[in-house]
Amino acid sequence: MPKLEIAKDVYWVGAVDWNTRFFHGHSYTTHHGTTYNSYLILDEKVTLVDTVYQPFAGEMLDRIREVIDPSKIDYIIANHVETDHSGSIGDILKLAPKAKIYGTTRCKQGLQKHYFGNWDFQVVKTGDELNVGSRSLKFIEAPMLHWPDSMFTYVEKNELLMPNDAFGQHIASSFRYDDEVDQCVLMEEARKYYANILWPLSVLVIKKIEELTNMGLKLSMIAPSHGIIWRKDPLKILQSYMSWAKGEYKKSVLVVYDSMWGATGRMAQSIVEGIRSEGVEAKLYWLPHSDESDILGELLEARGLILGSSTINNGVQPVMGPLLIDLRGLKPRQRIATTFGSYGWGGGAVKELEAALKDAGIQIVMPPYTVNWNPAPEEIQRCFEIGKEFAKKL
Ligand code: FEO
Repeated sequence: MPKLEIAKDVYWVGAVDWNTRFFHGHSYTTHHGTTYNSYLILDEKVTLVDTVYQPFAGEMLDRIREVIDPSKIDYIIANHVETDHSGSIGDILKLAPKAKIYGTTRCKQGLQKHYFGNWDFQVVKTGDELNVGSRSLKFIEAPMLHWPDSMFTYVEKNELLMPNDAFGQHIASSFRYDDEVDQCVLMEEARKYYANILWPLSVLVIKKIEELTNMGLKLSMIAPSHGIIWRKDPLKILQSYMSWAKGEYKKSVLVVYDSMWGATGRMAQSIVEGIRSEGVEAKLYWLPHSDESDILGELLEARGLILGSSTINNGVQPVMGPLLIDLRGLKPRQRIATTFGSYGWGGGAVKELEAALKDAGIQIVMPPYTVNWNPAPEEIQRCFEIGKEFAKKL
């Protein structure tokens, strides 16, 4: 296992999780797996920045041993409490029992409630620095990016920012850097990560990036705690985050539906044709055959969302439920929407769809369109017109 020096005396000692296909429980699919990134800084004092998910502690320790005896670790920086980054602190402390942990007040509280350890912990805040010899580690609190305890660590000597979860992507790879991997996959996974984790926190994202800019930090490298390290153009991911946080969008539409016997599906197809007739891109998702967290990634850059469902038990098809829950939670900014669906003897589905859109803060720009049983030719034509009208509102 060759050691990997990412900057002068800074080593990647994380773990690659090739097999995980879900994150945050089962709410987020990770088609490409992920990594848990941990960084070891050698100086007069030896510092470990974040650890890894506990099942991967052995891999992390093996990588550390390639560089130094783990018992020589003096400091552990805990940028974030969540167990994918703090889960192996206990394993390190077994080998380096005198190591001192640094993190925010909320981090101290969170670690105590997660691990119940009587650990030596130093609370730090924005502006505090830890001198480790020839370099200082500068701490920047980042509350709600994405937990209350979150923090960034900056190493001026290496022009290196370690922002933990921010700017990450769920990609397992034998490569570590942005210039080594497929650019489309990299940016698609970064976008999906933002949509599923950071979208509702966009106001804070804007403030934090402005704060970093105002601090005048030189950034040669951004090394997040998941996925690929940004070294080719570190500012690119900051610019992408700013664009996503501001709600910037493409003139495109997602049509997402479920259908019981195909009537709502035929309506969806015709709506897509109507959108297309205006020269606007439309993407159609039959939800039972689609990935919800991928759709949310697409929605991060699409202006329009059209939701359809046939009615069952006076409401939506149950498969729509998780998407509606996520929309309520993520609160997509500056998006417009409408709804449609077929029904038999009661048309409750569109009411539920509209309620979710309103809760999510998405602007409903056209009334729902419902069809009894099977759409007649003139009703299919009306769906086509709805697609055209919606496209014009983008
Ligand atoms: Fe918030 Fe990667 O954990």
